[in-house]
Amino acid sequence: MKSPLFSGIQPTGTIHIGNYCGAIRNWVRLLDTYDGIFCIVDYHALTVAHDVSTTRQRVVDAARVNIAAGLDPEKCVLFVQSRVPEHTELAWILNTVTPMGDLSRMTQFKEKSKQHEDNINAGLFSYPVLQAADILLYKAGAVPVGEDQIQHIELTREVARKFNARFGEVFPEPAHLVPKEGARILGLDGKAKMSKSLGNYVGLLESPEETWKKLAPAVTDENRKRRSDPGNPEICNLYSLHRNFSDDETIATVDRECRVAGIGCVDCKKMLHRSLSATLEPIRERASALEATPGKVEEILDHGAKQAKARAERTMEEVRRAIGVR
Ligand code: TYM
Repeated sequence: MKSPLFSGIQPTGTIHIGNYCGAIRNWVRLLDTYDGIFCIVDYHALTVAHDVSTTRQRVVDAARVNIAAGLDPEKCVLFVQSRVPEHTELAWILNTVTPMGDLSRMTQFKEKSKQHEDNINAGLFSYPVLQAADILLYKAGAVPVGEDQIQHIELTREVARKFNARFGEVFPEPAHLVPKEGARILGLDGKAKMSKSLGNYVGLLESPEETWKKLAPAVTDENRKRRSDPGNPEICNLYSLHRNFSDDETIATVDRECRVAGIGCVDCKKMLHRSLSATLEPIRERASALEATPGKVEEILDHGAKQAKARAERTMEEVRRAIGVR
């Protein structure tokens, strides 16, 4: 039997190439080895400002992009968090074994509290507990994520340990799996992590024209002021994108020619644009094919929710017995 693997993505904003390199591409690679369970975490998204009128569509769009990027629903379970209420039930129980001190040290909580000063709600604070519930509900041993989520998976291990110590061995301690390349993609500003909320991203479904508009002004090695200045690929964000999207030959060419000013930044960007298009084009095509088949994504999500719920119910039976309420 394959061992369970869980991961999730929020349906807020545009899914971008950072999400793809740090998470989705890795999920797809792991489909044959693991029993994959993937979740669109709509209840997590409630912790920040929330547009009710677009929510349903954003959830379906997030699922569609993931499927188009290679998350084959024949090979894994794909579902929406709010359709399996056991997630919030388990989160409540886990709240009672999670130290407040640990939650207050979470980097994501500190960052989001700064970004949303007018709305620092209890949900934002206990966000990682719901994330722990997502993972532990399926007794997942592996959680593929980008670097920014490692701290939450470490906390999940702590929560599992605390629960097991208090109520008996129920949960395995999950390991995080981060990709060797692409665990932390920087935005095109070259400064902050690529993020839906910072507007420094390339969307997974963007057209070649839109992608070029963003790449053309992107920040490169700032010491390269003139075309004739040699550059240093190791400190250039575009080079790290090449390492994620280009073939070995292109990567070697950029590495060599940048250092001797054999190519300029515009040449380098054009090469990157070609590599990006080669990855994004098939994803865009599959996404529009899915859009042209109304109801298809909803059908996949309905089926996924049934599969996930059956498994979640089994764990909750065990949890309720362990804590003595049944
Ligand atoms: P979210 O929606 O912010 O991001 C989804 C995945 O994409 C990764 N990621 C990145 N990787 C590399 N470079 C970047 N710039 C970048 N930006 C995002 C994230 O690390 C993540 O793996 N809390 C989670 C969602 C979640 C979850 C879970 C994940 C809820 N429950 C259970 C794993 C297991 C989040 O906000 O991801």
